[in-house]
Amino acid sequence: MKHYLSIHDIDDLQATVNEAIELKKKPYQFEQLGRQKTICLLFFNNSLRTRLSTQKAAMNLGMRVMAMNFGDEGWQLEFEDGIIMDQHKAEHIKEAAQVVSQYCDIVAIRAFAELKDKEEDEAEKVLNGFIKHATIPVVNMESSVAHPLQALADAITIKEHSSVERPKVVLSWMPHPKALPHAVANSFVNMMKLQDAEFVITNPEGYDLNPEITKGCKIVHDQQEALKNANFVYVKNWSSYSDYGKVLSSDRSWTMTQEKLGHAQFMHCLPVRRNVVVEDAVLDSDQSLVIEQANNRTFAAQVVLKRILETISR
Ligand code: CP
Repeated sequence: MKHYLSIHDIDDLQATVNEAIELKKKPYQFEQLGRQKTICLLFFNNSLRTRLSTQKAAMNLGMRVMAMNFGDEGWQLEFEDGIIMDQHKAEHIKEAAQVVSQYCDIVAIRAFAELKDKEEDEAEKVLNGFIKHATIPVVNMESSVAHPLQALADAITIKEHSSVERPKVVLSWMPHPKALPHAVANSFVNMMKLQDAEFVITNPEGYDLNPEITKGCKIVHDQQEALKNANFVYVKNWSSYSDYGKVLSSDRSWTMTQEKLGHAQFMHCLPVRRNVVVEDAVLDSDQSLVIEQANNRTFAAQVVLKRILETISR
């Protein structure tokens, strides 16, 4: 693997999930692979799980880790070519990406959508700037449109907890007071399209995700109908895609409750707002897989870093 930018950088999802499950049993078996190799984690946005799980994954592989909150601590970056840099941005991505490449062997980036301009977000200027100008592999720790480490952890969690051959998995929009990006939902959809499962997306009118991503997926606007006989219910808020970045509804009748969940297992990427997105009773029940999803972030990152280390060590 050269870079890990989307779930499509994985050739065989099932084999990768199985490998991650094996790594989980013996996390230190490839401790020599990352010896004298360094990963740099650059955060343009906040994180708990991604930062710690990616760091732990790298340490399990024997790597050295440097992390930087670039958004607060780094120079403001310019991305435009040929611009006269006489305003507030002090450093160009061309130098920044090449400089980072001198200090480490892999760079991992988190840079969220700003949700102001769809085209700008979809251009992924931070991630693509590093891909273009860095000379080392790049890992996506959540960009404007994708969160592939989360999606891989979710695939691992579904595999571990599925008791039927072809589970029904429902992705349901949830209310939220803030406008949130589409990255987690997009990557979950892309991952589910690679699974042998009955997959249904449910959201209110006006909240359909990017149709290029959901092409071929069943979308139901009646949540109750969608949830019938579900084995897994994955909940997530996202802002409107068609009315880009807007909060069109905060309808609490969409909030996940124990009654609506029925016998299904509950999933969410975290962080989650209790009693807005999901009621306490669900999160505190045995049906909640959220802590196991967070645990699996380590092994998702570890299998990805292992594949990249194998490529650069050749
Ligand atoms: N799920 C997830 O990416 O969590 P963090 O934002 O805390 O990293």
